[in-house]
Amino acid sequence: MTVLVTGGAGYIGGHMALALLDQGEEVVVLDNLSTGFAWAVPPAAKLIVGDFGDSALVDQIFADHRIDAIAHFAAKIVVPESVSDPLAYYLNNTAKARNLLECAVKAGVKQFIFSSTAAVYGEPAENPVFENVALAPINPYGRSKLMVEWMLADVAAAHQLRYVVLRYFNVAGADPAGRLGQSSPVATHLIKVAVQAALGHRDGLDVFGTDYPTPDGSCVRDYIQVTDLVDAHLLALAHLRAGGGSLTCNCGYGRGLSVLEVVEVVKKVSGVDFEVRLKGRRPGDPASLVAGADRVRQELGWTPKHDNLAEIVEQALSWERRLHNRKAG
Ligand code: UFG
Repeated sequence: MTVLVTGGAGYIGGHMALALLDQGEEVVVLDNLSTGFAWAVPPAAKLIVGDFGDSALVDQIFADHRIDAIAHFAAKIVVPESVSDPLAYYLNNTAKARNLLECAVKAGVKQFIFSSTAAVYGEPAENPVFENVALAPINPYGRSKLMVEWMLADVAAAHQLRYVVLRYFNVAGADPAGRLGQSSPVATHLIKVAVQAALGHRDGLDVFGTDYPTPDGSCVRDYIQVTDLVDAHLLALAHLRAGGGSLTCNCGYGRGLSVLEVVEVVKKVSGVDFEVRLKGRRPGDPASLVAGADRVRQELGWTPKHDNLAEIVEQALSWERRLHNRKAG
């Protein structure tokens, strides 16, 4: 059987395509290349350039391939952009996901893995935050993803489809074998930005907010290494294929690091004391988000292998160097 990976030319979806191929699966990648890259799709995967919201195209993909599972990564993911352009997020992340689900139901595809986000929690009353708390996203990005979680629950109740929703915390790092990493030219995510600053590919780094109710005043996040995250997807696929029930799991390590702590680790690992400017808050940012990560371990048997920020930063640095040389070369 074949797995359809939407967004498989992007950062996390690309690592998923690699991991699926590594374990001998057939992979079809559907990606409109709006932020992904054709070169990031492993040659052994079939790349179809198009939009997952294009129902005619998706119907045709299901007709042409024996797809038993969908891993749906394609999405817009930048919190501040979702605040300034919410309708783009509700179109891409919500409305188009509805079309994809409709095609899946029509074609009888029964297994669905969905990339959700810690942003569905908003500003949690307590950290670590567990899956069963009341959800109250504070930005359009989180709301655009939460609506898909709700659709999945309703579709699973009405049809034969089962799902695993994975709520990602802050994904970082790169393939330990150096085959792939985060390649988007316009970086907004902290570790990517910090690594670019360390390598002199950008002029220093702004810290957005130093007056949060956290130990050092900067925001606290749970940074999870990308291949550890992909492992959770492989386990989710095995769970669904074994007939397991629908499930929603946090994906994080269960420990928080502040923006200032991350910056210090990047400086230490790179050996570069780049400029850091303390700025005001960025719209849409919660103060702290740390995963309650028991369920993914218990239900899916997940055991992370790269729970070490210095290692994550080292991977991000070496991928950034490689990307830069590729552009220069
Ligand atoms: N930050 C800076 N300077 C920068 C970039 C980021 O100070 O140049 C800060 C942000 O303000 C925030 C923290 O670093 O406090 C992390 O920001 P990111 O942009 O790296 O990530 P977010 O926490 O905003 O969002 C990410 C994903 C979401 C996911 C969320 C869950 O993009 O998909 O993590 O925690 F929902």
